[in-house]
Amino acid sequence: MSEVLLEVKNLHKRFPIRGGILGREVAAVNAVNNVSFKINRGETLGLVGESGCGKTTLGRSILRLIEPTSGQVIFNGKDITAMNSDEMRVMRRKMQIIFQDPYASLNPRMTIGGILSEPLDIHKLFRGKEERRKRLYELLDQVQLPKDTLNKYPHEFSGGQRQRICIARALAVQPEFIVCDEPVSALDVSVQAQVVNLLMDLQKDLGLTYLFIAHDLKVVEYISTKVAVMYLGNVVETAAAAELYGNSKHPYTKALFSAIPIPDPARKSERILLEGDIPSPMNPPSGCHFHPRCWKCTEECKVEYPGITSLSGTHDFKCYNPIEKGQ
Ligand SMILES: Nc1ncnc2c1ncn2[C@@H]1O[C@H](COP(=O)(O)OP(=O)(O)OP(=O)(O)O)[C@@H](O)[C@H]1O
Ligand SMILES: [Mg+2]
Repeated sequence: MSEVLLEVKNLHKRFPIRGGILGREVAAVNAVNNVSFKINRGETLGLVGESGCGKTTLGRSILRLIEPTSGQVIFNGKDITAMNSDEMRVMRRKMQIIFQDPYASLNPRMTIGGILSEPLDIHKLFRGKEERRKRLYELLDQVQLPKDTLNKYPHEFSGGQRQRICIARALAVQPEFIVCDEPVSALDVSVQAQVVNLLMDLQKDLGLTYLFIAHDLKVVEYISTKVAVMYLGNVVETAAAAELYGNSKHPYTKALFSAIPIPDPARKSERILLEGDIPSPMNPPSGCHFHPRCWKCTEECKVEYPGITSLSGTHDFKCYNPIEKGQ
């Protein structure tokens, strides 16, 4: 039986929008709505959905880089949402994040040696200069960069190399869990594959657990053990990648996955074009937020958000009129 490393329970993040000279709350964005899932140790949960659906907000709320409005995050059996700042500092070592933009996330005035030493110094993870140097070399080796990297500055590297440096910085504190927020979206396709393969090798060698956020469904399918599909703040379907691909239950998932080109002429792919734009998260539609764009919508969809239906405990979805197999 696999061990659950991270459990997210009914997580909610609401951003108040203030206006007027008094700064009163005039509206709110429910960026993350009642989200629940589990990730087993050593596995990857892929998170997909259109821009603005709340993926980054969810990733950051899990790490408490932004405070969740309500709900729980259980890490290694401990509720981190209930921890004070001292306890959280200890916890931060175990949970790291890698960002989309490897240009913006490295200080241009620091050498790579300085950048990678920072987390080691903060958490006092070495004894003496020699041990620290050894650890820095080990980190570079893990991300396949040469030793002379240490004396150089971020501008001397390509996007892919900078992302490797960001990965090394995340690994410095020996984390168990990493939120990868679109780590390859800003890179060339050929470099994307190298970085994704590096992340997968590191996962195997170090037993890491990932939440992998991406736009590119092909990348997500490749790297993920399970995939969660998000729409306007809600996770609408979760299942193994192949199951989602072949047996989507939620119409939104079906539409999203139908957009992937299939290189096999024997497999016919019918592309589903969704009508209408993504509604504003400030004023989402009633009931199931997807109903105005859904071709299977019935009256009940407009009234109340559907609860979770679970197929054999491994495939969950929120829909009143799920897609039948072969439909
Ligand atoms: N600090 C903030 N204050 C107010 N609203 C915010 C804030 N951060 C995010 N939002 C809103 O929350 C919603 C979700 O944003 P988020 O960045 O999490 O989406 P995303 O799925 O990561 O998008 P993308 O794919 O473009 O990165 C958006 O409507 C966004 O405008
Ligand atoms: Mg984002």
